[in-house]
Amino acid sequence: MKQALEYIKSKLGDRKPDIGIILGSGLGKVVDILQDPIVLKYTDITGMPLPTVKGHTGCLYIGKLGKHMVLCLQGRIHLYEGHPPQLIYSFIEFLKDIGLKELIITNAAGSLYKGMPAGSLMLIKDHINLSGRNPLEGPHKEPYFPDMSKAYDEEMRNNFKKVAQNENVNLYEGVYLMTLGPNFETPSEIKMFRLFGADAVGMSTVPEVISAVHCGIKVMGISVISNLGTGLTDEEQSHDDVLKNVGQASEKLADLIQHYLEEY
Ligand code: HPA
Repeated sequence: MKQALEYIKSKLGDRKPDIGIILGSGLGKVVDILQDPIVLKYTDITGMPLPTVKGHTGCLYIGKLGKHMVLCLQGRIHLYEGHPPQLIYSFIEFLKDIGLKELIITNAAGSLYKGMPAGSLMLIKDHINLSGRNPLEGPHKEPYFPDMSKAYDEEMRNNFKKVAQNENVNLYEGVYLMTLGPNFETPSEIKMFRLFGADAVGMSTVPEVISAVHCGIKVMGISVISNLGTGLTDEEQSHDDVLKNVGQASEKLADLIQHYLEEY
């Protein structure tokens, strides 16, 4: 990983990214909004941990958008692939080192109530970490017990809500619950997660957010709702359906992110 980060740094040239975007399953199209990007394939970066999941291509883009130089990760790794959570921390720490101030994290998620159907966008206001893992696991590193009371930056969220309003896009806001995965949930788990106070469920994002909070990068998360949680309909869950449904909503999300970066 150290070698990979050195390689990426060497390719930056005079590009100084200040905003990062991590793209979830099927959301790869968002990179089309970047101007004149340089593209690094993960497979060309020695030591870069490779995503193994369909829908996570594995390319890093650095390009301009609005006032910002944006570093965009198309393809992320997940803890369920067997990667140690500290690997995610190392990457976020690297982003901090190269000067990133803000991080926008996207994901595909299942809805925990019928009122938020597939195709919806949900701004994450808080999370519940049920993955059983933590990117800060390991020897004491200050701040060892980081505060999580305002993990999802309020100013970024308010600005994003304004953009959605101006663009007439219905933006839900809710709590994201992370499981380790990789199986979809049982109907009973979905019922329990709703009772816990969550609105959407997925298998990512939380390690990146905890790492960003620890490193002092402001963070915002957006879920693209790809399906209703298991048991809320008669349908069985499938990753192919997730990708299909996310594809349709991804343009809407790309549009909002573009306006956000142009305005703020
Ligand atoms: N559960 C967990 N993760 C997901 C889902 C789901 O229903 N949909 C997309 N990612």
